[in-house]
Amino acid sequence: MASGLRKGLTSYGDAGFSLFLRTAFIKAMGFTDDALDRPIIGITDTYSDFNPCHGNVPDLIAAAKRGIMLAGGLPMAFPTISIHESFAHPTSMFLRNLMALDTEEMIRAQPMDAVLLIGGCDKTLPAQLMGAASANIPAIVLPTGPMLVGHYKGEVLGACTDCRRLWARHRAGEMDAAEMNEVSSRLAPTKGTCMVMGTASTIACMIEALGMALPGAGTAPATHADRVRLAEASGAAAVRLAKDAVTPQQILTKPAFRNALAVLQAIGGSTNGLIHMTAVAGRLGIAIDLEEFDALGREVPVLVDLKPSGQHYMEHFHWAGGVPRLLRELAPLLDTSCQTVAGGTLADSIAAAELVPGQTVIRSIDAPIHAGGGLAVLRGNLAPGGALLKRSAATASLLRHEGRAVVFDSIPDMAARIDADDLDVTADDILVLRNAGPKGAPGMPEAGYLPIPRKLARAGVKDMVRISDARMSGTAFGTIVLHATPEAAIGGPLALVQTGDRIRLDADARTLDLLVEEAELARRRAEWIPPTPPEGAERGYLRLYLEQVLQADQGCDFSFCRPPG
Ligand code: FES
Repeated sequence: MASGLRKGLTSYGDAGFSLFLRTAFIKAMGFTDDALDRPIIGITDTYSDFNPCHGNVPDLIAAAKRGIMLAGGLPMAFPTISIHESFAHPTSMFLRNLMALDTEEMIRAQPMDAVLLIGGCDKTLPAQLMGAASANIPAIVLPTGPMLVGHYKGEVLGACTDCRRLWARHRAGEMDAAEMNEVSSRLAPTKGTCMVMGTASTIACMIEALGMALPGAGTAPATHADRVRLAEASGAAAVRLAKDAVTPQQILTKPAFRNALAVLQAIGGSTNGLIHMTAVAGRLGIAIDLEEFDALGREVPVLVDLKPSGQHYMEHFHWAGGVPRLLRELAPLLDTSCQTVAGGTLADSIAAAELVPGQTVIRSIDAPIHAGGGLAVLRGNLAPGGALLKRSAATASLLRHEGRAVVFDSIPDMAARIDADDLDVTADDILVLRNAGPKGAPGMPEAGYLPIPRKLARAGVKDMVRISDARMSGTAFGTIVLHATPEAAIGGPLALVQTGDRIRLDADARTLDLLVEEAELARRRAEWIPPTPPEGAERGYLRLYLEQVLQADQGCDFSFCRPPG
C-alpha cells in the first residue's frame, strides 16, 4: 500500500507525473528528499480568532511537530473548520456534521500516514472523531484541555456552570448589569475549554476512556506544561501508530464504546456525550442501545465530584489522578483489555494511574456522589424514541412530579413570552418547549435549559421540570428532560401537547407521559400542521442538513455518512 507522498495521488492519468508534480510543489516549502521520505503525520489546525477554547493550538502544534520529528516522522499541519459554542449561528450543532465532513475529506484527500486531531470546544472533537472513524487511517486525539478556574470576590468561578448560575441571579434582580460586566472578565480566565464537566470535558474524558487519546489527555489544563508535553508525546505516538498501521476501527470497538459510556455516567457528564458517541459509533456501524445505556447508569454511580453535579473543577480532577484513576475505581465494570493509542491496553493505563493520598474529587465506588448514575433514559407516550434526564444535576424532589403543561411552540415563542408578567405559570407547572430539535430549530440548539419565568425567579424559584426536543449545555443544571424523540417538527408527540394538559415524570420508573386520552391525541394528530421550513431551506448546507439529519437517538448524524446497511 502506498505511503507518504505517494498516497492518494492527484488524478492526471499518469501516476509518475502526479508524484513528480506533488514533490516539485512541496519542495517550494524547502523540504529535503530525506524529510519527504518520512512517514507523514497530518495535524488538524483548528486555531481561529473566534475560538478561545482553541487558543493554545499553535503551542500544541509546535510541540506535536517536535514529537513527530523526534520519532522520525514528518509533520504536516492543515486547516479545518473550527467551531466555538458562542460564535456559531444558529448553533454549533448545526455545523458539527459539516466539520466532520471537512475533517474526513481532508484526511482522505491529502497524503498522510496518520493524523493527530487537535480539538476541544464542544462539537470539534466529536466532529473530528466522526471524520477519522470514517476515513480510518491511524489517528490519535489531543484535546486542547480545560481552562483554569476564575475568582470573583472570594468565590471560585467556572465557565459555564457559574455563567448560568450568575445569570439566573441577574434575572432574579440580585446582580446588576455593572456587576455582570465585571464578572464576565473572570468566568473564563485562560485559553482552553470550559473547566466544569460540560460537553467539552465530558467528550475529552470519554475519548481518553475510548483509548483514542493518551492517559491524562482528557484532563490536563490547557495552559500547563503537562498539556504541551502531552502534545509532544501524542506526536510521537502518531508516528508509531502509522508504522504499526493501527486504525481507529481497531480501537473503536463495541466494548470500547461501552467503557466510554460507563465513564460518561461516572463523571456525571453532559447529555451531549451520548449524542456525540452515538454519532461516532454509528460511523462504524455500531448501534448504541438506549436501554443498555440506561442499565449502565443503574450500575455505574457518579464518582467524580465536579460541577455541575458536584463541587470541583477539571484542574482538581486532573491533580486527583484524572481518568486513569477513575478507571481504576470502575475497573470491575469495564473491559480493560481494550487497545489504546498508547500502545497497550486500558489495563496498562489503569496500572500507571497516579494515586493521590487524601484526594476527595474521585470517590470510591462505595462512597459515590450519586448512587444512581448521571443520566437516565425515559420512555413514554411523550417520547417513544426516548428522552434523556441528567439525574445528577436535577432537584431530587422533582424527579417524580405531575404538573400542568405550559407550552412554548418554538424558541422565539419562548423568548417572547417567558418573562411576561401575565404568563399563566406556577412553580408546580411543567414548561414544554417544542420545535427545537434537529430539524425543528434547526440544529437542535442548547435551548432545553428553559429559563425560570422571571416572575417565578424573582419569587425565589430555582428549578422546575422542563421538557423539550432540544439539547442542553453540559454545564447546565436542573430537572430538565431533553432530546424527546421523535421531535415535534416531524410530528413527534411533543407537537400534540397543549397548555393545561397534565404531564407525569417518574425518573425512577423511567417514564414520561402525557395524561391525555389516546382518542384526543389522535384528533390532535389529524389536525397537526408541520411547521414552515426556515428561511433559506431551499438551497445549500441548510437544505442538505434538513434532508439528511437523523434524530437524537441516532446521534444527529447525516444518514448518508453512516456505512451502507
Ligand atoms: Fe468551548 Fe465551553 S465554550 S468548551
